[in-house]
This record gives sequence, C-alpha cells and structure tokens, in this order.
Amino acid sequence: MRTPIIAGNWKMFKTIAEAKAFAAEAKAGNNTSGVQKVICAPFTALAALTEALAGTDIAVGAQNMHFAEQGAYTGEVSASMLKEIGVEYVILGHSERRQYFNETDETVNQKVVAALAADLVPIVCVGESLEQREAGETANVVRTQTEGAFAGLTAEQVAKAIIAYEPIWAIGTGKSSTAEDANETIAIIRSVVAERFGQETAEAVRIQYGGSVKPENIASYMAQPDIDGALVGGASLAADSYLQLVAGAQ
Ligand code: G3H
Repeated sequence: MRTPIIAGNWKMFKTIAEAKAFAAEAKAGNNTSGVQKVICAPFTALAALTEALAGTDIAVGAQNMHFAEQGAYTGEVSASMLKEIGVEYVILGHSERRQYFNETDETVNQKVVAALAADLVPIVCVGESLEQREAGETANVVRTQTEGAFAGLTAEQVAKAIIAYEPIWAIGTGKSSTAEDANETIAIIRSVVAERFGQETAEAVRIQYGGSVKPENIASYMAQPDIDGALVGGASLAADSYLQLVAGAQ
C-alpha cells in the first residue's frame, strides 16, 4: 500500500504574507488523514511557511536546490540550507527548470544524490513535450529521464524518492492527460524502476501525475492503480482548493 501524496507547487507565486494567509486557512480546514500533504513554495516564503505549519501534517518543500554542499555559486541554495529551515521535500527537474534554466538529466541526478544525502525527499519530475508525444517518443523520454535521475543510486534510495510524471503539454494549459493515458505512462516509469532497481522498489516508489489537476478531476487520477497522487500548480494556490484535492485523494 502506497500512501497518496498531494504536493502543491506554487512556482513563482506568493509573498510571505500570502503564504502565511494560506497556512492559516489550510490549518483551519485541514481534516483529512491518510494523505501526505506538501506545499512547495518560493525560497523567500519557505521559513515563514515551515513556522506557520509547524505542528500540522502539512510539510514544506522547495522547488529547486544546488547539488553542492556550499561554495561560490552565486544565487544558489543548498540542501542543508533548506533542511535548516525545516524544509522536507524538494522538486527536482521540473520541466520549467529543464526548459528555462538548462536543467539536464545529469544535474538532476547530482541534485537527487545531494537531496537524499541531506535527508530531503526529492520529487523528481519527468515528462514529454507535445512534439515528443506526437512522434511516439513518450516511453523513451520518460525512460531516459528516469534512468538519468536515478543513475548510481541504490534501490533503497530510489524507494525514498517520489516521481512526478508531468506531460509538458498538460502543464498550466487546462488540457489534462486522461487518467488512463497518465496511468499507462506511469506504469512504464514503474517498469523502468523495476528493471533497474527491482520489483520491490518499483512497488514502493510513489509516482504522481501532474498537469492541470483540479478538485474536479483528482478522483479520476486517484482511481488508477499506478497513480499515487498529484503535483499541482494552479489549483494549489488557494487553500480551499488544495484541501479539496487532498480530500479527493483519500
Ligand atoms: O508542478 C506542477 C505542474 O507543473 C502542474 O501545473 O497544475 O498548473 O498544470 P498545473
């Protein structure tokens, strides 16, 4: 049995004041158990959010980090710096970072290693573009990205990670993948994990779907056997909507 996990990705939205207001509302309405809850906020709001959500079962995640422990890397933040302020998760290899910030399978891999070493749970994003999908390359793309992200890791380490399958064409477009299609690709990702790290690891690792998930469609994804939750952008920005997603994953 894999515990479902609903992670909100706020992207570059919300000031500290807005994050605190979200936390207050989420705390007041948070009455769902059996679902892991995570909010991934911009760096500036992380400390305030971990403080505001302390004592609740809503964990906080970052949206990126550097793989080095420290050093002359202007503008970057390390895993231990995130740990110090109570962050427990980190999104790695989001398609927006691959697209706009030159994130590669190699850097994602280095970051996954560093996150796990610091005891942060990596949420590793994989997914194909519309062009790749239309060219029939979806399986190859997710295979390469999954193998790349986890290269050199042990089965035990991979089992601790979370994978988010996000078809790029479904992100922020309102054009979500059907639950059946998403499940099919997620099953491929799980089989890649099985090939590389064994059946037990493949059965333990949680794989989310992401891309235009909303309270209205969450149940259809959760009904699929291989989908263990969602990584949600737009619909995670309002506390009531986020809590509805969590309730829908129960
Ligand atoms: O990380 C979240 C995804 O990019 C999905 O974003 O829910 O706004 O489509 P979205």
